Amino acid sequence: MKNWFITGVSRGLGLAMARAALAKGDRVLGTARAAVPELQGMGENLRILNVDMGDAQGVVEAVHEAFKSLGRIDVVVNNAGYGVLGAVEVSSDAQVRQLFEVNLYSPIRIVRTALPYLREQKSGHIINITSIAGRAPGVGSAIYAASKFALEGFSASLAQEVEPLGLHVTAVAPGQFRTDFLAETSLQETAALAEYSPTVAAALKSMSTLHEHQLGDPALAAEAIVQLAHTEEPPLHLLLGSDALDRAKGKLKTITAEMARWESVTIGTDFKS
Ligand SMILES: NC(=O)c1ccc[n+]([C@@H]2O[C@H](COP(=O)([O-])OP(=O)(O)OC[C@H]3O[C@@H](n4cnc5c(N)ncnc54)[C@H](OP(=O)(O)O)[C@@H]3O)[C@@H](O)[C@H]2O)c1
Repeated sequence: MKNWFITGVSRGLGLAMARAALAKGDRVLGTARAAVPELQGMGENLRILNVDMGDAQGVVEAVHEAFKSLGRIDVVVNNAGYGVLGAVEVSSDAQVRQLFEVNLYSPIRIVRTALPYLREQKSGHIINITSIAGRAPGVGSAIYAASKFALEGFSASLAQEVEPLGLHVTAVAPGQFRTDFLAETSLQETAALAEYSPTVAAALKSMSTLHEHQLGDPALAAEAIVQLAHTEEPPLHLLLGSDALDRAKGKLKTITAEMARWESVTIGTDFKS
């Protein structure tokens, strides 16, 4: 049996992960900003703490409370997050700051607070939910992609730092999943600007038609993540969804070709003697 700390269990992937872990007989301490009727009556293996990921102190206290309440935590999942889509030129400082607070600074705070406990336990798995936008971003998602690229980079370096301590880190990058991610209740858009109609506005339009038709099933993603947490040697990176795989492969091809094309310039900057 594993003990889980999962942020954002009110909806979408977080709710699905909480359900999947409980169904496996694991214990879950989830965070949510409000009551979660969908999880009511799930038994004594579930506890929910009310935390807003924008509240730095509240986030830190929740982690301490989680370890106090469960004794040990085997899996820490940084899941809560949302998207800001639209043209960079018209994004505001407040929008960018709040997004980074929720998508990046909170996960870092959670990891930093959990690490002394995990070190003491000599085991634990940190799972950061990033995005394919953090690996192969499309147009119109620069601010969101920046927050998820940062979480990918954080995970890749952290994994090396904590591996000798017996801890695992996995950055899970989902493609499109049928959650509220693209719904008005979650997604924020920057103001429209005519100059970006063929690029940003066109991408946003196609994303809006994608809502409720995404390829990915959140329940299956949750099952994959529960399986991941029960694996002895989990990967550092895991893509979820066939669309994510296609985009990541395409990006790798482009990177490899571009590196080859510019190789002489790249290696030409070393000292000549
Ligand atoms: N679905 C996709 O296509 C997709 C693709 C790639 C990555 N992701 C990532 O997957 C994660 C989960 O998203 P989802 O698809 O499940 O979307 P969702 O259905 O919109 O759920 C988002 C979750 O994050 C929580 N959250 C957002 N802002 C918060 C804040 N300030 N404080 C506390 N909780 C907050 C929400 O809580 P409230 O109910 O209180 O708002 C909700 O539980 C996110 O990190 C997202 O970036 C999703």
